[in-house]
Amino acid sequence: MIIEFLKHLTIPSPSRLKEIGYLKELLAIQSRYNRCTQHWQQHVETTKQQIVESARTCKQHRKVALMGTGLLLDIPVQELSQMFAEVLLIDIIHVPEVEKYCRQFANVRCVHHDVTEMVNQLYELGTMKGKGGLPTHAVQPTYLLDDSEIDLVVSVNIMSQLPIMPQLYLERTCGFKESDFRGFNSSMVQQHLEYLRKFNASVLLITDVHRHLLDATGKIVDTENVIEHISLPKQRHEWKWDIAPRPEEYREWDVVHVVQSIPLREQAEETV
Ligand SMILES: C[S@@+](CC[C@H](N)C(=O)[O-])C[C@H]1O[C@@H](n2cnc3c(N)ncnc32)[C@H](O)[C@@H]1O
Repeated sequence: MIIEFLKHLTIPSPSRLKEIGYLKELLAIQSRYNRCTQHWQQHVETTKQQIVESARTCKQHRKVALMGTGLLLDIPVQELSQMFAEVLLIDIIHVPEVEKYCRQFANVRCVHHDVTEMVNQLYELGTMKGKGGLPTHAVQPTYLLDDSEIDLVVSVNIMSQLPIMPQLYLERTCGFKESDFRGFNSSMVQQHLEYLRKFNASVLLITDVHRHLLDATGKIVDTENVIEHISLPKQRHEWKWDIAPRPEEYREWDVVHVVQSIPLREQAEETV
């Protein structure tokens, strides 16, 4: 806790992102990973394998863009740097350790970017105490859609996360309630899906779809759909992520997420 607090103070990051809570969340993921490394290992390795499988089937290997790269726990950076001419690691926040690690690869670049293209607007809404109200719909992102050299795009365990930090921030600053966000949050997730579909490249979506609570006997006692109202194409592969074994989040229950890898486009169309 103290180490997380000190890191939060000293890691350079735009103050609005710290206020919304992105850095705190990333540091919390790091701490949980350190506590649950063994439980997370299968998920982390399977995610990497799925990314490499899609990379292998690309016809060309000019640029790969990965969204939600965070701490690079589930990103096969070295393999991708050998396979592609350029690797773009996109996240709203990159911690210094990640940037330092990436500097050893001449063709890997950490890109600070908000993939919803709405976070600044939502931050401003918070500073105005919610005056004007929550937007009814999320915007359609456009970043990199005009880059014809991209051969592979991967959304890595980020889609269900996109609305979470803005929602918690706006609940804190504006007094909005959880129920106020239902339509808007689904719209933000849907826009991410539409955005991915617009790339003229191979596109792989890796996302959690369900969250289970399990009792000590392994019986599922509760299930939540983490991307409600979103219809997804058939997955190529599905696996379980032991995200919070007892007593990480609950004393009496394990939390397990079901994760899918879904190719949204199999391969880039030939360039002439
Ligand atoms: C659950 S983590 C994904 C795990 C990550 N691949 C790793 O190995 O650490 C979700 C990531 O999404 C990023 N993120 C959340 N909202 C974002 C946004 N609007 N734009 C870009 N990145 C965002 C977070 O900073 C975090 O790194």
